[in-house]
Amino acid sequence: MANATATVHPNIALVKYWGKRNGPLNLPAVPSLSLTLDTFTTRTTVNWGSNADRAELDGRPATAGEGKRIFEFLDLIDPARPPCAVTTANDFPTAAGLASSSSGFAALAVAGAAAAGKDLNAQALSVLARQGSGSASRSLWGGFVEWKMGEREDGLDSVGVPVAPQDHWDVAMVVAVVSDAKKAIGSRPAMRLSAETSPYYDVWVKTAAADVDVARQAVLDRDLDTLGRVMEQSTHKMHATMTTCTPPVFYAQPGTLACIHAVMALRDAGTSAWLTMDAGPNVKVLCAAADAERVQAALAPHAAVVHRLGPGGAPVLS
Ligand code: DP6
Repeated sequence: MANATATVHPNIALVKYWGKRNGPLNLPAVPSLSLTLDTFTTRTTVNWGSNADRAELDGRPATAGEGKRIFEFLDLIDPARPPCAVTTANDFPTAAGLASSSSGFAALAVAGAAAAGKDLNAQALSVLARQGSGSASRSLWGGFVEWKMGEREDGLDSVGVPVAPQDHWDVAMVVAVVSDAKKAIGSRPAMRLSAETSPYYDVWVKTAAADVDVARQAVLDRDLDTLGRVMEQSTHKMHATMTTCTPPVFYAQPGTLACIHAVMALRDAGTSAWLTMDAGPNVKVLCAAADAERVQAALAPHAAVVHRLGPGGAPVLS
């Protein structure tokens, strides 16, 4: 029986994943495109063979719900597996809203498969990670990554594909943490509610593939204005499907709006800075690395903390 440790970076979607065509397999209703971040990591160790299934998250025992999700995921690697011990920790604040499930399930896939003695390539690991959390399918590579939605019912073609490596483009992602208030609703039920009740959901689904096409080309061309425009619109369309749910899902806080206006003011003053938001109140701003300090300064009055991140690399196994 073996141990393996994986260190994996979270990713932020530039063109968003929101909505599923198959819940249990996390098959998306839309393609998406992300940037893997540097600096922050999830580090996960799996001992394949223990006296009982045991999991520790950030130094505390996993809750029953967390344990269920972790061990059902390891069952995907081998349904006849032995009991396993899992230790996982994030070195970034959960309140930063940095999609910890993206690095979490990618790290569990990489460490779990290695501990089980399975030699899976990045694509196979992406298919596996996706089943833990959709966004995790994109954290198997550094830099810019597309998640192809695929067509197959078994999901084998719903997989991440690298678009451009970590060193392709010197951009920054500035993250303004505006509130650490607990979310009223998690992203998974909110996605479902959007699909079931928002009159805008169909438009969201119909326009997503074209957004990814524009974004992919803009990444390849290093065209920040084009990428930024389509990225912001993807965020606003996604949030439009939430605010028009019954009942509405509203993640923005007053600080969120202040940051949005600060980004628009930066642009009016000539800085190419573009925002995205996930299922939470924090605002993430993409800009040229050379402009990151200016963007940080503009967001600081409206945020509790401002992090500056850049493109990150692929998972590391040790
Ligand atoms: C808003 O990947 O956390 O961050 O597949 O249900 O686990 P599940 O959802 P998850 O959703 C992420 C949604 C998002 C957008 C994105 O990352 O593309």
